[in-house]
Amino acid sequence: MVRELRTLYWKGSRLYLIDQKALPHRLRYVALSDYRQVAKAIKDMTVRGAPAIGVVAAYGLALAALSAKGKDPQKVLERLQKAADVLRSTRPTAVNLFWAIERVMARAEAAARNGEDIAGAVLEEAHAIAEEDVKVNRAIGMHGAQLIKDGARVMTYCNAGALATVSYGTALGVIRAAVEQGKRVFVYVPETRPKLQGARLTSFELKTEGIEHKVIPDNTAAFLMSKGEVDLVVVGADRILASSGHVINKIGTLSLAIAANHFNVPFYVAAPISTIDFRRTLSEVRIEERDEREVLEVMGRRIAPKGARAINYAFDVTPPNLVKGIITEKGIFAPTELYRLQPQGS
Ligand code: MRU
Repeated sequence: MVRELRTLYWKGSRLYLIDQKALPHRLRYVALSDYRQVAKAIKDMTVRGAPAIGVVAAYGLALAALSAKGKDPQKVLERLQKAADVLRSTRPTAVNLFWAIERVMARAEAAARNGEDIAGAVLEEAHAIAEEDVKVNRAIGMHGAQLIKDGARVMTYCNAGALATVSYGTALGVIRAAVEQGKRVFVYVPETRPKLQGARLTSFELKTEGIEHKVIPDNTAAFLMSKGEVDLVVVGADRILASSGHVINKIGTLSLAIAANHFNVPFYVAAPISTIDFRRTLSEVRIEERDEREVLEVMGRRIAPKGARAINYAFDVTPPNLVKGIITEKGIFAPTELYRLQPQGS
């Protein structure tokens, strides 16, 4: 059952991850025992999705701390600092990565000050972040499900499901919660070029869960809306700016939001508070650009002529006026009132 599908787990001093590159054809876990392997898994998208990469980075720090166990606390902190730099350099856009690293590093420094076992404290913090993620997703689902009527036709984008988190998912969590309430829901799944997270991962989750859906080419979304066949759009986010309400999410989200607004289809974003950036403004955010080959090839097979070049931004920016609401674990907010959610002391 997808409800129990866990993207990652910790066992015997190792981190186990579903290899998302192998899905949907093979469901297999890879075992990682070194933080550098974790950094590579984030970079090559063995694991992806904003909340998931935050949790995985936290466990990467646990692996780094364990490898320095027994050493002088200062040395352990130095090893952690180095690992944190490597993990931060993997993917620049999703804020959860930086949020989780900062949280774990603060815990490690507090443990060092108090003479506690640093590796134990770091691992405990990683476990806490992972368990909170599941609870938070269920709360997002509960708040968001009220927006979905019985018989609704919902469009999502990319993969904001169990695989993008520890379990359950954000945007797909909303759909899942509505289905659990007994509502009939039909889901449109844009394939999400170039990495095909929709066709490969979201469809895999929905199929396993028995939720009715169809995969569509990305360029079909506006046409379906123009025909009145979409009741609601709900997507995830990689970073939402509290300063302005801009939503940064998978490339193509902006086109969906523009089309949805044009055809009066409500456009919602589901995301945990850990995805809200309370510090930076838009000009300070780096939008990841990935290898051109991801566009010039499909699943490793060249489709463009030799010598052709490509543009490959991984994310785009949707302005707040196109977003009807942000569904969080604390309720649904207008994109411009997110500052109200700022945790104390941050
Ligand atoms: O490049 P990816 O696959 O990591 O991008 C993921 C997305 O854009 C998701 O929509 C987003 O992280 C929300 S996941 C709950």
